[in-house]
Amino acid sequence: MAVLPSKVTLVDVGPRDGLQNEKQTIAAEVKVELVDRLTDAGLRNIEVTSFVSPKWVPQMADAAEVMARIRRGPGVVYSVLTPNMKGFEGALAARADEIVVFGAASEAFSQKNINCSIAESIERFRPVAEAARAHGIRVRGAISCAMGCPYQGEVKPEAVGYVAKLMKDIGVQHCGVADTIGVATPRATQAAMQAALKHYELADVSGHFHDTYGQAIGNIYACLEMGISTFDTSVAGLGGCPYAKGATGNVATEDVLYLLQGLGIATGIDLARVVAIGQWVSGILGRKAFARAGNAIAAKLAA
Ligand code: HMG
Ligand code: MG
Repeated sequence: MAVLPSKVTLVDVGPRDGLQNEKQTIAAEVKVELVDRLTDAGLRNIEVTSFVSPKWVPQMADAAEVMARIRRGPGVVYSVLTPNMKGFEGALAARADEIVVFGAASEAFSQKNINCSIAESIERFRPVAEAARAHGIRVRGAISCAMGCPYQGEVKPEAVGYVAKLMKDIGVQHCGVADTIGVATPRATQAAMQAALKHYELADVSGHFHDTYGQAIGNIYACLEMGISTFDTSVAGLGGCPYAKGATGNVATEDVLYLLQGLGIATGIDLARVVAIGQWVSGILGRKAFARAGNAIAAKLAA
């Protein structure tokens, strides 16, 4: 049996990936309360918002306001997405602890999501990564469509390796490998991760799984077997990308916590509190949480 990591870091991307796809405008105060509650539940890395064009993603137009109003916990990393220098300037003014440049392993998705080719995106990220490092801000990279693309279909691990190398070359410190449309199965996941691991250390690679086909927990377990110990998750399974139609939310933080708790892997996060947050935010959005373990635990408590 593979030795699994004894500790795992979860990055809750709910406030950003989760809410960016919501059709109804969500008040800044709800976003702030969501981040604050996640801080209180023990999350140590929270993806708060995106400094992107409000014409492209209107829901993130209040990025500066949300960042200004959150209550920052000691040692907690509050990250934001920055596609270009304009985004970086917003992130810097907002005192983000970490920025995320987001590219893709698929040319078609790169065009749809950020309106440029993969090579052009790297040229846009280069000054962003340089400026971030000059200001002591950590730079994380996300590689979308690493295991399948809504426009071009299959994506080969070599394409992931190609983008990972380009990101490494421009000084991106961490490589997040993303299954944007949630199609991957465990072996395909391991192949994509292996491609990123050719260029990044084990501690600097993470998995980001949307759960469209219900494979995310299996894929995370496959990553744990490889020693990968950082994952993006989203409270209540919120999430989706406006430029990946049909893709559902990220794997729920509650479900991953339940898995990790069962495996005896420490996270420092309070599952019961995250369950309560998931139920609360789903109530505000007017629907049931997309969190299997979360809903089961909530139902048991209510009984
Ligand atoms: P563009 O139209 O090519 O950009 O968009 P542009 O430079 O020509 O600028 C056009 C307008 O946008 C200008 O305004 C700029 O000032 C403004 P105008 O003169 O027309 O009034 N603008 C900005 N405004 C605010 N902040 C900025 C910014 N940049 C330009 N940073 C651009 C290119 C990258 C800006 C656009 O395509 C964009 O914002 N895309 C963001 C898409 C996005 O946020 N997608 C979702 C996040 S990625 C994701 O969900 C995947 C992930 O979860 C992993 C996974 O699951 O795969 C991370
Ligand atoms: Mg995503």
